[in-house]
Amino acid sequence: MPSAISPPAFTPLKDTVLFEPWKLGNISLEHKLVQAPLTRMRCVKNAEGINIPSDLMVEYYGQRASKGGLQLTEATDISRYASGYPGVPGVFSDEQLAAWKRVTDAVHAKGGYIFCQLWHTGRASPAGLLDGKTPLSASNIPISGKALNGTDFSATPPKPMTEEEIAEVVSDFGKAARRAIDAGFDGVEIHGANGYLLDQFLHDNVNVRTDAYGGSVENRCRFPLQVVRSVCEAIGSHRVGIRLSPYNYFQDTKDSDPNSHWAYLCERLATLPHDHRPVYVHSVEPRFDEVLDEKAKMDALSAYGSGKGVEAEATRKIGHSLVPFQKILSRAEIKFLAAGAYTRDNAVPKLEAGDADAIVMGRWFIANPDLPKRLAEGLPLNQYDRGTFYGASPPEKGYTDYPFFPGGTEVAA
Ligand code: PHB
Repeated sequence: MPSAISPPAFTPLKDTVLFEPWKLGNISLEHKLVQAPLTRMRCVKNAEGINIPSDLMVEYYGQRASKGGLQLTEATDISRYASGYPGVPGVFSDEQLAAWKRVTDAVHAKGGYIFCQLWHTGRASPAGLLDGKTPLSASNIPISGKALNGTDFSATPPKPMTEEEIAEVVSDFGKAARRAIDAGFDGVEIHGANGYLLDQFLHDNVNVRTDAYGGSVENRCRFPLQVVRSVCEAIGSHRVGIRLSPYNYFQDTKDSDPNSHWAYLCERLATLPHDHRPVYVHSVEPRFDEVLDEKAKMDALSAYGSGKGVEAEATRKIGHSLVPFQKILSRAEIKFLAAGAYTRDNAVPKLEAGDADAIVMGRWFIANPDLPKRLAEGLPLNQYDRGTFYGASPPEKGYTDYPFFPGGTEVAA
C-alpha cells in the first residue's frame, strides 16, 4: 500500500548537531538554532519617543518560542534618546517593562528563553528623531546619505561624546540590563555591531578621536568594554552576551584592519575576569550585509586586500572569517553564535566544523513561526516577504500571519 505520509522536503536535521543540547551560562538549551535580533517596528506609540511592545509582539515572540530554544529581541532603546526610531521598543519606562513582561511570559510558557538586545544608535539617529537633540558619536563624522526620516545625515552631524557622556551611556546600559531582567528576560545582548554607537567607537573610519577613547585599538575598545563591565555588574556575567560585526559596512563603518582589531577585542574579552566576561559573542559573517548582496559584499571586502602595506598583506593572507575570533573566545569558554545568511544547508556544517556553538537565523524565523520543528523534521519552509520586514499595514501582515505547518509553500533555502 502506498504511504499516505509525504516524504520530507529536505533531509530532516533532528539527528544532527543542530538539535543537540547545550548550556549558555546557567541555561540549558535543547537546540542550537537561535532567533536573530530583528527590527520589525510593530510597537505602539505611547508618547513621543516612547514605544510600547504591542499585543502583536506578545503573539509574534510567543509563536516563535520553542522548548529549550533561545530568542534574541529586536534592538531595544536603553534610554529615551537611544534611537527615536518609529515602532522600535525601549526598556526605560514602566509601561515598556510591563508590556515586555507579557512577551517574556509568552516565551517562558512554551519552555523557551529570551534575551533582550540593548542598543544605542549614536549617529544613526538624526536630530529630527531626537527632539532636535544632536546625535552622539565617536566623532563629528556623519553617515553619508539619508536617514530613516528622509533628512540628510550631514544636516545634523553628530557630536563627539565627552567623557561624561560616555560615562552616562555606560551607566544607562547597566540600568537597562537591570530593567530587562525585571521584565523577565533571561539575559541581555549588548548591541556592539552594525554601525551603531559602540561600533562607531570600534571602527577606525568613524573613531578619529585623540583622547583615551580613540586612536589605538586599545582606546577604541575602551567604551564597549566599559559597557560590558557595567552590564555584567548590573545583572551577572552569566546572562550577558555581545554582538560584534568586524566586517560591517552598514551605517558607513569600514575598519582599516578588522582581522587584527577584532582579534584584539576578542583577546580582551577572553581575558576578563570571570565575573566581567560575557558568556557569548554573537557575530555576523563577512558575507552578510544589510544592503549589498553576498557577492557584492565579498568583492568589496576583498578589495581591502588589494592595497599596499603590511595590513593589506595580512588581510590577503588571512582572508575574512569569523573563525580566528571564535578560536580566541573558545579558549575562555565564551560561546560563539554565528549569524549571517545561514540556511538549512550551511548551518550544520558550520557547527560540525567546531566553528560555532549555535546558529542564528533571521529571515527564516520571520517567515516560519515553527522554524525549529520544520528544520528538525524536514518540513517545507515558508518564503519571507521583504516588503513587510519593517512594518506593514495592517501590522500583522508579514508578522504574525505566517502559517504554522502545514501551510505555506516550499521554497529553495
Ligand atoms: C535596521 O533598523 O535596519 C537595523 C536595526 C538593527 C540592526 C541592523 C539593522 O542590528
